Amino acid sequence: MNNRERPIGFFDSGVGGISVLKESLKVLPNEDFVYFGDSLNAPYGTRNVNEVKKLTFNAVDFLLDKGVKVIVIACNTATSAAIDALRERYTGIPIIGIEPALKPAVEVSRGKSVIIMATPMTLVEKKFSDLMKLYNEEVNIIPLPCAGLVELIENGIIEGNEIEEYLKEKLKKFGHLDVASIVLGCTHYPFIKNELAKIVGEKTVIIDGSIGTVNQLKRQLTCNNILNEKKTKGIVTIYSSSINDNTIDL
Ligand code: DGL
Repeated sequence: MNNRERPIGFFDSGVGGISVLKESLKVLPNEDFVYFGDSLNAPYGTRNVNEVKKLTFNAVDFLLDKGVKVIVIACNTATSAAIDALRERYTGIPIIGIEPALKPAVEVSRGKSVIIMATPMTLVEKKFSDLMKLYNEEVNIIPLPCAGLVELIENGIIEGNEIEEYLKEKLKKFGHLDVASIVLGCTHYPFIKNELAKIVGEKTVIIDGSIGTVNQLKRQLTCNNILNEKKTKGIVTIYSSSINDNTIDL
């Protein structure tokens, strides 16, 4: 198999990266994808950095065994903990990460507030504080760690009372602020976007980082000359470390 025909590897701590995979299928419909979700070990966001690094290295080794030509770390938490170490160790393959989409949020939020929902780990890591420094003079940036939300989504709870109560409780202290946008800084959260929109109303824009990551993936495939040229629809293969995984329809 030549390099162009090899699949694209996707990794997340669980089902969250499927939200990014879904966008990739629209932009790169002829590519084959291998997705690995480590639901058995999720959530990552409340672990320590070394554990997350170790789990991420294992996942990347698993994807490399499947013969992937590029790797997408479709997990904000694993990206913030491990992306530099991954690029240092695996020099022969492009590795793409994801980070909270602060730039587009700031663009629509001039002078107002932006809430960043993410896992506790994403928000305390250096990558996020570096990102925040770029923009916190332009807008009021509010990091909002959402421990427990990944677990609900991993259990297939993406709508209804439990999610609604969780989100209302998290957001109630910001009722007095003029919040222009909310950034979904965890790839699990797009699955609860509808519930969130019902609570915050249409004046607040909800932004996730999928599109930026998919555009970066396409750029990497193009500049490394490894875009799949076949004309037929690609195949998606999904692996999970959990036998009781809840899959979400693509
Ligand atoms: N989807 C992961 C992220 O983007 C969730 C991490 C977790 O398992 O806590 O951060």
